Amino acid sequence: MLDLVPEFTAIRQHLHQYPELSHKEFQTAEFIASCLNSWGIEVHTDIVGTGVVGVLRNGDGTKSIALRADMDALAISEKNAFSYCSKNEGVMHACGHDGHMAMLLMAARYLAQTRQFSGTVYFVFQPSEEQDGGASEMVQAGLFEKFPSDMILGCHNWPELPVGTVGVADKAIMASCNAFEIEVTGRGSHGAMPNLSVDPIFVAIQIANALQGIITRMKKPQDAAVLSICQVKAGQSYNVIPDSAYMGGTVRTFDEGVTDLIESQMKSIASQVAMAFGAQAKVSFDRQVSPVINTPDCAQLVRTAAIETLGVKALVEQEPVMPSEDFGEYLKKVPGAFFFVGSGASGTCGLHNPQFDFNDEALPIGASVFAQVVENYLLK
Ligand code: NI
Repeated sequence: MLDLVPEFTAIRQHLHQYPELSHKEFQTAEFIASCLNSWGIEVHTDIVGTGVVGVLRNGDGTKSIALRADMDALAISEKNAFSYCSKNEGVMHACGHDGHMAMLLMAARYLAQTRQFSGTVYFVFQPSEEQDGGASEMVQAGLFEKFPSDMILGCHNWPELPVGTVGVADKAIMASCNAFEIEVTGRGSHGAMPNLSVDPIFVAIQIANALQGIITRMKKPQDAAVLSICQVKAGQSYNVIPDSAYMGGTVRTFDEGVTDLIESQMKSIASQVAMAFGAQAKVSFDRQVSPVINTPDCAQLVRTAAIETLGVKALVEQEPVMPSEDFGEYLKKVPGAFFFVGSGASGTCGLHNPQFDFNDEALPIGASVFAQVVENYLLK
């Protein structure tokens, strides 16, 4: 595997130069398809626009495994100065999906060359992870009907873990992502005569405070959840009470039942607090992405592969994190596991930062874990 590092570092840096936004990964898809083709891997490019699936069969084994990478970049202007920084102004691989694609391509190249397995491997390149739920579109488009897989594995580079490590968990590893909006409607007035108003800002503040009571008082303490209000918009002038106020935010959980509780309590608290002050509150709650819940047997395959390829010290028992990933949509259909590939080093930037760059030292790590799981599970 290590002899492939220079070639795949160049591939990763090429992908970094030509980032494309969600559902617009046209050049990226073409590049991936041509790589897979040139290594003798069967290629399907007809899935949700820019999705690409490579199929590699070997021997007469009937087992199958899908390996997934995400393809899209973010609407961020890159602030790096190195030679391979983004050539598409305002678009940047700031989440390392360039690295995820390169790791999966590297595993594909290695497995196509060495063929130390018996069965079928599907290399799934998924568009639009950052927006619009590419994973659920792939599932709805019949991914697992066309490419029946016993299990699916995916990974994300993780700057919080040092490069050389792999983090995995038996159950939840990443949270669900839900967006909410609360529109409070009152009645405006002169700022000096609040008694003539139904002050929507005052009401919104009461609602914002009361909502944290769901997290601390209403759900079970053992159930992790976050509720953050990240947008507050109201008013245009220092001396005018406006008619309405807007708040937007996010809810993260590891359990859809906990999300149900938060959504229903949020609606009830917002409308009743507003009513108490003579205002009205309208809540919309959008479930964007499910939590990523691993299958313990599949997580164990990742652990074994990580220990075999990197040594026992490389393995991290990962605690679940509150950011989200649409990989959970696959895990609602088939067993599988999502793992973190440590990419941190001194001076590493966080994900979604304009100075982020995927750590190329992580390339052979993710690729070897993928390949080793294939060789172990599809044992010849
Ligand atoms: Ni990402």
